Amino acid sequence: MAAVGESVARPASAGGFEEALNAIAGIEGWLSPDQAERLWQRAREVEPPGEIAEIGSYRGRSTILLAHAASPGVAVVAIDPHAGNDRGPHQIEGTAEEGEADHAAFMANLRKAGVADRVRHVRLTSAEAAPEVGGPLDLVYVDGAHRYAPARDDIAEWGARVRPGGVMLVHDAFSSIGVTLALIRLAFFGRLFRYEGRSRSLAEYVRADLTSRERAGNALGQLAELPWFVRNLVVKVALATGFTPLARLVGYRSDEWPY
Ligand SMILES: C[S@@+](CC[C@H](N)C(=O)[O-])C[C@H]1O[C@@H](n2cnc3c(N)ncnc32)[C@H](O)[C@@H]1O
Repeated sequence: MAAVGESVARPASAGGFEEALNAIAGIEGWLSPDQAERLWQRAREVEPPGEIAEIGSYRGRSTILLAHAASPGVAVVAIDPHAGNDRGPHQIEGTAEEGEADHAAFMANLRKAGVADRVRHVRLTSAEAAPEVGGPLDLVYVDGAHRYAPARDDIAEWGARVRPGGVMLVHDAFSSIGVTLALIRLAFFGRLFRYEGRSRSLAEYVRADLTSRERAGNALGQLAELPWFVRNLVVKVALATGFTPLARLVGYRSDEWPY
């Protein structure tokens, strides 16, 4: 629960988005360039003394981007138990060794990117980490366990810690079944989060207090994403079964798991 290590390069937030994108090139993880840009923009807008919390860091791809974007005086907290479970697609049950490997890669990647002293890593689950993180938070990035129950808890509990006007970004929205069901339950019809749009599966919400009329429009905006969710499910079935013509039929040209 301390800074990850000694930073050896130039201070974070010295450069722009392209520099941040270069810093994460080659780092394993799930964050496309357009998603990285949305994440970078929202993090760059946080004013000191603000606080950014990330749930689910894996090997540091999104963490490094956040640290690059954050202005001096803005705290960046990365929450990940690196325990080997819920690591990514097809990796729900893992081993402690895999978790240790992720942790070692995370530390090395942050050091190499020169942002190790900009990040406070809390090596706990998001539920355990709650007392370790202050708040209210300006930006929460939810990308931890994607099964329904933990995704629901992350969106409910960490979303509640976002200050009015602050931002919650949710990865694998309208793509993962667990995350999408959690959003349907908590964000589609509620009054606390205004849906702002998405970059692929990276959905953006602003903490609000919506009127009844605004809630109806907010629900419609998210319901309109459900055809894209169904398309992603079709792609996943096609890739999982090896029946790739099905993926091509819905316009998917890649062999990579969609996110
Ligand atoms: C999809 S990866 C995160 C990817 C990362 N954001 C990136 O840009 O590459 C999910 C991560 O969530 C972590 N995780 C699993 N369960 C968690 C929990 N209960 N709380 C916080 N993180 C969790 C895993 O260890 C894994 O590193």
